Parts: sequence; structure tokens; C-alpha cells
Amino acid sequence: MTVSEHARALRAEIEKHNYQYYVLDAPLLSDAEYDRLFRELQALEAEHPQLVSSDSPTQRVGAAPLPEFVAVAHATPMLSLNNAFADAEVAAFDRRVHEGLALDEGVDEADYSAEPKFDGLAVSLTYENGILVRGATRGDGSTGEDVTVNLRTLRSIPLRLQGSGWPTLLEVRGEVLLWRSDFEKLNSRQREQGEKEFVNPRNAAAGSLRQLDPRVTATRPLRFFAYGIGGAAGAGLPATHSALLDRLGEWGFPVAAERRRVSGLGGLLGYYAEIGQRRASLPYAIDGVVYKVDDLAAQERLGFVSRAPRFAIAHKFPAEEAVTELLDISIQVGRTGALTPVARLLPVFVGGVTVTNATLHNEDEIRRKDLRIGDRVIVRRAGDVIPEVVRALSGQRPATAREFHMPTSCPVCASHIVRNADEAVARCSGGLYCPAQRKQALLHFASRRAMDIEGLGDKLVEQLVDGAVVRTPADLYRLGLSALASLERMAEKSAGNLLAAIEQSKQTTLERFIYALGIRNVGVATARDLARHFGSLDRLLAADAGQLLQVPDVGPIVAQSICQFCSEPHNLEVIEQLRAAGVVWREGEALLPAGGTLAGKLLVLTGSLPTLTRDVAKAIIEAAGGKVSSAVSKKTDFVVAGSEAGSKLDKAQLLGVTVIDEERLLALVNTPPPAP
Ligand code: IVH
Repeated sequence: MTVSEHARALRAEIEKHNYQYYVLDAPLLSDAEYDRLFRELQALEAEHPQLVSSDSPTQRVGAAPLPEFVAVAHATPMLSLNNAFADAEVAAFDRRVHEGLALDEGVDEADYSAEPKFDGLAVSLTYENGILVRGATRGDGSTGEDVTVNLRTLRSIPLRLQGSGWPTLLEVRGEVLLWRSDFEKLNSRQREQGEKEFVNPRNAAAGSLRQLDPRVTATRPLRFFAYGIGGAAGAGLPATHSALLDRLGEWGFPVAAERRRVSGLGGLLGYYAEIGQRRASLPYAIDGVVYKVDDLAAQERLGFVSRAPRFAIAHKFPAEEAVTELLDISIQVGRTGALTPVARLLPVFVGGVTVTNATLHNEDEIRRKDLRIGDRVIVRRAGDVIPEVVRALSGQRPATAREFHMPTSCPVCASHIVRNADEAVARCSGGLYCPAQRKQALLHFASRRAMDIEGLGDKLVEQLVDGAVVRTPADLYRLGLSALASLERMAEKSAGNLLAAIEQSKQTTLERFIYALGIRNVGVATARDLARHFGSLDRLLAADAGQLLQVPDVGPIVAQSICQFCSEPHNLEVIEQLRAAGVVWREGEALLPAGGTLAGKLLVLTGSLPTLTRDVAKAIIEAAGGKVSSAVSKKTDFVVAGSEAGSKLDKAQLLGVTVIDEERLLALVNTPPPAP
């Protein structure tokens, strides 16, 4: 055997054992034997570096840390599922499927693929010619983050597809998660090393995947399950979803052993009951089951409504509840001054985490639920949702229980509290004078989707604001090593890291900067729309309400918030200071693909188009710079109508909006639309 043959044989042997262990859950070797093989390959590759190939198991670990994550646009959007909780909602789903497919009543039952709903994070894996070339997080569904080096460390993810007959281009979708036992081990390790523990397996998995240093991810025992594909080219695929999952299994992916093909509503509900019983004994957390119409051609026919498929639904398990004591109600002051009453609870374990706080939303909510401090209360938590207090056990109310009253002045800065007659929330009128609002504004400014200053957490902001070291975001850029190092829990090394992160944040993008400003009602998506539309900050700052309203998706409330923000001299001053401190972004450059023939156009799709599915039509429009909205208004530029178009078409005609067909749409994306 030549050296190169020896290396190849070792690689195949090691990947076989990875597969046995992580995919089939049937290890053939002891850990020590596996380690011996691994070290043998490492030694061989060290001696003959020319033999190292990217799909070698040794190359799963040890890639260099990334400076930041790169955004990846998903070729087809990663959508979400509609949820059903009650059997009646599942029945309605089954009925819609029947109608959509025009199955004969009672004669034919629809066939479904029923699967566990993994409680982890969705990722996409792209294979070219059978080799893993990219892995990405779901992100907002259209754009995720490139986490290829991290995903390569998961030994349940094949670096090279097994078997044969795979498409030359294949995008596999699935879920990354942690087994419960691995989560316990990870947390006890964190504890031993004096690190923060994770609240649940899902958070631990998310945190582990979003590590800039893949060597950290490699120490976290993440697992993967495939549940579908995002696209494929260059080979025929099976006709059903369940056969597709079988095929993914043959190509080396873990697929849930609990999946099953069932028929009709009875089959669905039977599956739900069975998995519900087995839930606690599964090695990983699930929050429900997913039903998908099994026939892929039928899936295509059913299509999508807005962000979710018509051919699938998630049937969720009921939220978990527990009884505990309402110790107190305290007030939290948010970034916009909103006062939120927070329930302080006797710690209780519910839905996989220990809950000590729960939001009470606002004063009316507390009255409606008639909660008193000292009450025994029911606390509910579902999935990753914020825990809530359902109600009080008023029959068990102690004599000492007392009513809660909203304060009349801000508990933090003593400013007046105002509550508009038409609003449920009370707000502190202190603005940035209020330290609580200032802290939240700074945290927002530094947050991941804003300026992304890693290491600037709430404890630190607390000290910086309380010590009057930092008042505005611009002050962050004036911080020095000595000021930071003198703070509590701040060693010189972490101070240095923070300063580097602050320095790095100066290179940003217009949309991040706009979002970071924390303008009321301007979230990530609106910030992006504004950046695309105006291209420069000065143009945005100078825009009047009328110009703002021309931005797709910007309505009167958002426009007013922006105008209000820009009319406040203090805000403009901080912006100037930030620019003077060296915060820069590229201006003038539209983020739309060059030559987008639908740039700035708003389209509405209605009816079924002869060849394009909804989501394909949408993707085509977006690629040409256009936006798709679900309702027809005066702002709509084109309504694309297919057969059986309904009320949207009527509305378009009423408003005089141009109606086009699929052919015309396709022509438009290749040629500029006529001037109005
Ligand atoms: S199919 C078109 N199958 O649930 C939607 N999703 O709400 C395709 N999930 O982001 C999703 N288990 O992360 C599908 N067996 C399963 C799933 C599953 C968990 C997650 C997935 C997705 C979310 C949808």
C-alpha cells in the first residue's frame, strides 16, 4: 500500500466510524480505538502534508478564527411553518390540503410524512459534486451567516456524500441541536471552568454555532438532523418527501428514526399522540411534530401563503405550566422609556429552564388577571418564548397579598410617567436623561445586528453609565484602556479586547448604523429599506415625511418617528460626534443587484401563475430589486395576476394599478419597465 492509499483508507475508516457513532448511533469501536486511528492519520498527514484533503476528518477541526461572519443569501428562502395547537386546527389543515388538491371527499386520504419537530436551529448545507462547500444559518430566512467552518466540526455532517446518484448541486436543510445528556455534560464543564452555564440545549446549540473560533465549536457536541432540501440540480429526485429523506439517509445524513408515513387526519393525530408519549424518552428536545404532504408534486401545487407553506404544518405540544409564588412586581424601564412590570417569582423549573422572572406586559394586564403580590400563580413557558404568568390561584390567596400600583414617577430617574389615553404602556418622560433608557440605548447600539460590539454587555454598560464614564454612544469611541481596566470584573486583557471590538465597529454599513440609532419603530428590516432607498445618511436625515412614505413598507407611524428623531438637535449632535470619531460606511451604493430592473418597485402576486410558483416568482422579483407585498394599495406598481385571481385583482382595477401576467413579468425582469 502506498502512503497515499494508506491515508485514503484511514480516512474512509474514520468517517465510517463517525457515521456509525453519530448517524446510526451504533459505534463499532471504543473511544480509545477511534482516537488511535485518528492520531495515526494526523501523524501521516503531518509527515506528508501534500496528502491533506479538505474532506479529511482531521480537517473538521482547527480552522483559524474568523474576523466576522459573512452574510449568505439563501437561493430559496428558508421559511417557517404555521403552528397548530388544537386537533381542530389540524383538521382544518387536512381539509385545506384536500381542497387544494381536489381530492374526492371521503374517498381518498392525503398521505403525509410525519416527523418530530426538532427544537434546535435551522441550517442549510450546500454540496457541490458531493463535497460540502457551504453551511449557513437560517438568519432572517432570506439571508443567513456563513458558518461553514463551524458546521464542518459536526461529525454527523458528511464532508463528502456517501453512495451514489446524488445531484451535482444539493442544498440540504436540517436542524442543529444538542442531545440532553451532552447538554448536561457541557454545563457541568462550564461550571467547573467557572464559565456561564447555558439555559437550555437550544441556546447552547445556538451559542456554539455562532462562534467566531471554530475550535470552540469543535469542543461542543453538536448534532445534526436533515429534514428536507432547499434545492437540487443535476439528478432526478424521488417523488415523495419520505423517499427523499430515505435517500438523504443513504447519502450519509442523520434523519429522524421516528419519522413515519401516515394517511388522513386519523393518521396525523395518532402520530401526534404516539410521539407525545415518547417525547420524554427521546435523547433530544422536540417541541411538537411536523406534517408534510408527502407527494412532492402535490407540495408544489399547494404552494405557499406569505411566509409559510400550505403543504406543511407544525403541531405543537402544549406549553408547560408550573405553580409558584409571585414574590414581587418590579418595574423595568426600556429603551423607549416604556415601563414594564416584571414578576419576580420563586424560582420554578418549567419547560426546560428555571424561571425567576416573567413579563407582565402592562398595568391593565395585571388588573385583568387580578394578580396580587404574594399570590400563588401559574407560570407558562413554551419553546423559546418568554415565560408568562397565566393567572393567580385566587382560592389560595394569602391574607397578606397586596395589590400592585404603577409608580407615578420613574423608579430610575424620577421623571414624570406619561400614559397616552389610547396606549396601554406607561412611559418615563426622561428620555436620555434617564440612566435606564441610556443603558438600553447603548446596549441596542452595541447589539449584534447594530454596531456589533462584542463584549459590551449589560453589566459593563451598567458600570459605564452609573459611573458617568459614558453618556452617549459617541463616548464609547473615546474610551481608553485605563478607564476600562479600572472597572469591576475587567482585566486588562478583556479591556483590550473590548477596545479592539469598539475600534472594529467603526467600519460599518449604513443599514447597521441606521438601526443602531435606535429610532422608534425602525427595526432591522426598515433600516435596510431606508439604507437602500436613500443610499446616504444625509439624504435620509434631510427627508421629509412625504419622501419617507415613498420607501416601500414605511407608513405614517414610522415616517413620523424618523422625523421626530431627526428634529431633535441632540440626536444630530451624537451622529456628528460618531462620524468625527471615525465611524464610517460606504455611501451612495445601492445594495440592490446592479441593473435591477424592478428596483424600488412594489409588486403584488395574485392567483396561480401558469409556470411559476409563488415563491419562485417572489425570488425572481426580489432578485431584480423589486419588493413583493401581500396587499394592493396605491403604492403598488404592478399586480401580477394568474388564473383564479380574486379580490386583489378587483382592488387593482379599482385603484388603477397596472395588471400584468407572468409573461409580462418575465419580460420586465429582463428589460426595464416603461416609465409611468
Ligand atoms: S420543515 C418550509 N421539518 O421549524 C418550512 N422544519 O417553523 C420547512 N423544524 O425553521 C421546515 N423540525 O428549524 C421542518 N422536521 C422538521 C423540523 C423543522 C424543526 C424547524 C425549522 C424551521 C422551523 C419552522
